[in-house]
Amino acid sequence: MRIPLIAGNWKMYKDVNEAVELAQSLKNVLKDVDANKSEAAVCPPAIDIPGVVSVLKGTNIRVGAQNMYAKQEGAFTGEISPLMLRSAGVHYVILGHSERREYFKESNEMINGKVRMALEYGLFPILCVGEKLEDREAGRAFDIVKAHVTGGLSGIPKEKMANVVIAYEPVWAIGTGKTATPDQAQEIHAFIRKTIVSLYDDATAQSVRIQYGGSVKPDNAKTLMGMPDIDGALVGGAALKADSFEAIVKYYK
Ligand code: 13P
Repeated sequence: MRIPLIAGNWKMYKDVNEAVELAQSLKNVLKDVDANKSEAAVCPPAIDIPGVVSVLKGTNIRVGAQNMYAKQEGAFTGEISPLMLRSAGVHYVILGHSERREYFKESNEMINGKVRMALEYGLFPILCVGEKLEDREAGRAFDIVKAHVTGGLSGIPKEKMANVVIAYEPVWAIGTGKTATPDQAQEIHAFIRKTIVSLYDDATAQSVRIQYGGSVKPDNAKTLMGMPDIDGALVGGAALKADSFEAIVKYYK
């Protein structure tokens, strides 16, 4: 059974003190989450990670990073390695977010290198995939998503796939208030799972969690989570406040 993973991507919001405050609030409000129905994670800016890890120690809320560099160490000014994330107590790492693909020109190849390294160092990658509005309008949504999935997973052995989460985030739905309808999202999620079947096998595809991301809010979370191939949410704006994130994590109520 796939337990939905609700992960908050804090993006470049929350300074060190604000991050600790939010983590403290989440620690309180998420105490009674039904672990059979929902798993919560937060992905703060890198500089906030140690503070957030320390607050959330001993809770069920896992901490993720938003990016990493695909090297163990070296002269790479400004970058952070998988080893460093591990040593800070990080569990998940978001890779290939559309904002990184767009603003930092990350290619499928670069993202694949990061997925490989994350797995090698015991991190759990959240591989982001998703088409832009112009791709959808031109009828290319499936092709783009397939390229993101196959490119991102290239060379990843079947045994490692249980550690991989995929996040489908249609770029046109991010921060715009426009959510993909549950049927639109389900259609792509089923397609992603079918792509994983073709790359691996059915059992592997059934074990991989596929999150939806893009304007997930307390009022649409339940319907989205009700779709057969939607196994969680990657939440931006609504993850920045404890009450709205709580409501999404407890979508089952
Ligand atoms: P919003 O929830 O703000 O649309 O952001 C989605 C996102 O990009 C999460 O990674």
